Amino acid sequence: MHSLTRPPPAPLVPIGHRYSSSMLLGQLADRHGRVARDLRVSLTDRCNLRCSYCMPADGLAWLPVEGTLTDDEVLRLLRVAVERFGVTCIRFTGGEPLLRRGLERIVAGAAGLRGAHGRPELALTTNGLGLDRRIDGLRAAGLDRVNISLDSLDRARYARLSRRDRLDDVLAGIAATDRAGLRPLKINAVVMRDINEADIVPLARFSLERGYELRFIEQMPLGPAGEWRRDALVSADEILAELGATFALTPAVEPRGAAPAALWHVAADAGQPGGRVGVIASVTHPFCGACDRTRLTSDGQVRSCLFSRDETDLRGLLRSGGSDDDLARVWRGAQWGKPRAHGIDAPGFQQPERTMSAIGG
Ligand code: 5AD
Ligand code: SF4
Repeated sequence: MHSLTRPPPAPLVPIGHRYSSSMLLGQLADRHGRVARDLRVSLTDRCNLRCSYCMPADGLAWLPVEGTLTDDEVLRLLRVAVERFGVTCIRFTGGEPLLRRGLERIVAGAAGLRGAHGRPELALTTNGLGLDRRIDGLRAAGLDRVNISLDSLDRARYARLSRRDRLDDVLAGIAATDRAGLRPLKINAVVMRDINEADIVPLARFSLERGYELRFIEQMPLGPAGEWRRDALVSADEILAELGATFALTPAVEPRGAAPAALWHVAADAGQPGGRVGVIASVTHPFCGACDRTRLTSDGQVRSCLFSRDETDLRGLLRSGGSDDDLARVWRGAQWGKPRAHGIDAPGFQQPERTMSAIGG
């Protein structure tokens, strides 16, 4: 189903390029001058929700269990990433990473890794279901930060867009994470035309009142094939206009670096103490030029970009006795070929075969 591994290009430096090969050793660089320090690891493609922007109503054919990396295989690749490439942040995603039984064990193993930049920061992107029962254990294992997806505060709308009536469970997960003291606590909301635009202001108020950092995300073509429409997109500008009609916003001046969100300060008002909100304009204002991410799917494929049309297999190498040197070389080769940009607006753009749930957010 997915493209097969091609022999990785040797990460040699083109003549005249501003990097020398010695600078590239020890990091995960690409031919466009970017270096990946942020690793997103999908721990399962399964999920207990069916968000319409991510999955078809009937779910997907899940990856077979034997094809999924074991906890030890995941940890081996994380060690290579931290020790060899100086990865500074590891984010566990899915599908829904809480459905991965070994999550706490993997987090604990990752917390023991040390690279050139010390211990990596450990983050989790989750839909929040069941998080109330897991957060203390995850924190004890070494988890630093959590991003929780919440697209609506209205029970009926939440049920409609996630196709499950689970809003109360998500809110319990958010409250438990808050109590556990993990900060910053981030909330992700994908805005969809005629579905949850009415939630923009309530979600902002909910987050600001509680000191959470809300990120609105433009919907990307990573859901069921053929369903995304550019002209139906709720753009970052529209989201900001909606927020600006209720809140006093000023652009945050902090340097954005590789962070995808453009941040805005919100002035305090009678209902909330002030804070920040972010808007991730992946479609209308792409930030590919500053991207510092590399991705690993739950079946052990490197994807240098969310929108890659090809993947590079590390699982086969792991299972056929490849050394850490081999793994590092193949991973470097994969990252070297990272596309310059996602090209969503280019005429020949084709959506990747895998949906977001199988890639990892
Ligand atoms: N467009 C934008 N964001 C998406 N996510 C999932 N699918 C899409 C999409 N098509 C987000 C979820 C979650 C994270 C894993 O990715 O809201 O926060
Ligand atoms: Fe599950 Fe996340 Fe996809 Fe929703 S967006 S169906 S919570 S993987």
